[in-house]
Amino acid sequence: MPKNTISDTLKNQKIGEVIVLKGWVRTFRSNRFIALNDGSCQSSIQCVVDFNDFSDDLLKRITTGSSISVGGEIVPSLGSGQSVEVKVKELQMLGDCPPETYPIQPKRHSLEFLREKANLRMRTSTFSAVMRIRHVAAFAVHDFFNKNGFFYLNTPIITTSDAEGAGELFRVTTLPFDETPRNEDGSINYELDFFAKPTNLTVSGQLEGELGALALGKIYTFGPTFRAENSNTTRHLSEFWMIEPEMAFYDLSDNMDLAEDLCKFIIKNVLEKSKDDLNFLNTRLLNEEKNKPKEKRSEFELIEKLHFVIDNSFVRCSYTEAIDILLKSKPNKKGKFEFPITEWGVDLQSEHERYLVEKHFKSPVILFDYPANIKAFYMRLNEDGKTVRAMDVLFPGIGEIAGGSQREERHDVLVEKMKNVGIDPEHLDWYLDTRKFGTCVHSGFGLGFERLVQFVTGMSNIRDVIPFPRTPGNAEF
Ligand code: 4AD
Ligand code: MG
Repeated sequence: MPKNTISDTLKNQKIGEVIVLKGWVRTFRSNRFIALNDGSCQSSIQCVVDFNDFSDDLLKRITTGSSISVGGEIVPSLGSGQSVEVKVKELQMLGDCPPETYPIQPKRHSLEFLREKANLRMRTSTFSAVMRIRHVAAFAVHDFFNKNGFFYLNTPIITTSDAEGAGELFRVTTLPFDETPRNEDGSINYELDFFAKPTNLTVSGQLEGELGALALGKIYTFGPTFRAENSNTTRHLSEFWMIEPEMAFYDLSDNMDLAEDLCKFIIKNVLEKSKDDLNFLNTRLLNEEKNKPKEKRSEFELIEKLHFVIDNSFVRCSYTEAIDILLKSKPNKKGKFEFPITEWGVDLQSEHERYLVEKHFKSPVILFDYPANIKAFYMRLNEDGKTVRAMDVLFPGIGEIAGGSQREERHDVLVEKMKNVGIDPEHLDWYLDTRKFGTCVHSGFGLGFERLVQFVTGMSNIRDVIPFPRTPGNAEF
């Protein structure tokens, strides 16, 4: 007997075919109708049992969450909501699920409750939809780069560098905590550590990515990234997945074009391939919106919003223009921003980014040419001597979804910039080699995968778009 999934069965429905399906019971109504789901798609399939054919003992064990095997014939369905159903001839209990203790009942659970049950939450319609869309988006990332001549480069997870210079690192060590070996001056003797130097989990694959780009031309990384910042927000994870393309001979404008194309390609793929899951999430959001006060409701439905993004060009706006807009904005004049904009040079907070995107431009925006001193050392200094060729891609509801730059390719300028921020050029001599040996204009960016999945699924909390979120104080499961 071939192994059928519910997804295949519903797609290639052939009336009269006899099949076997295995899955988990969503509901069992009237001792007759089993809604069976196997995770392969949003829909459950209705399996109709005649209770005369099976023992009471067996039927009693068919409870929400139990796993069963069902054999039977595909017949047209009389009920609404599905075109076919299975007329059950064989029924086998595979795994009981005691209703008294099973937390996922066929009713609305809050996302907060389900976060506590992340080991089981993928059994729900919402989380299975999100995870399937996450898969489609990840696949689209590889598809996009493969089609455009990029090579998938795997950069290390354990590194000695802090690419972003932010110092928010998870240390990797095998040194003992008690009786840590010390140097004479009392500092830790890392020579006795596993790698004979201090190492950490990577905050970005960019620096190694640049080495790849200056050899292979166009590369991308797509891997886990770790930040030990203590941010408890709906947009930060301690472990997240980042996509980092890096391209030789690309300037900032090429970089912006690529970021826009990539975002649109992924969203288009999800719109095409995840129709049922998106429809489900669209309805879910509409119901959620109904409970909000009118002024807080969003203007667009989820699917409308996705179409809007792929059908329109992203606005490109320099940091300097953005500061002008913000200085003159109503919320700034009325003191509504938590961090008021007072002058050119300040870092933008997410409230400012969201004002620009959601209120001013009403479109995704790419901000560029930021002040040098609020951006990382590796960004190319502009001729004005005070701004760098940085770019941030800002999305409605999310804020920053991607950040990148044209890289400083001039050896002397880069060394100077490192020294200014206290990075020892000798420590990164391997990185500086690219500027010594055949340097060239090059660019890249990092796209936060979970933030993108948040955008396409409409989930408001980033913890709900990764199977097992890691955040400060939380590494369960
Ligand atoms: O802006 P970031 O810090 O840029 C870099 O790491 C560069 N090295 C990228 C590059 O040029 N190759 O991070 C890039 C993106 C952000 O725009 C955001 O979408 C995401 O990564 N991100 C996070 N996502 C979830 N949780 C966090 N704590 C994140 N920090 C950054
Ligand atoms: Mg950034």
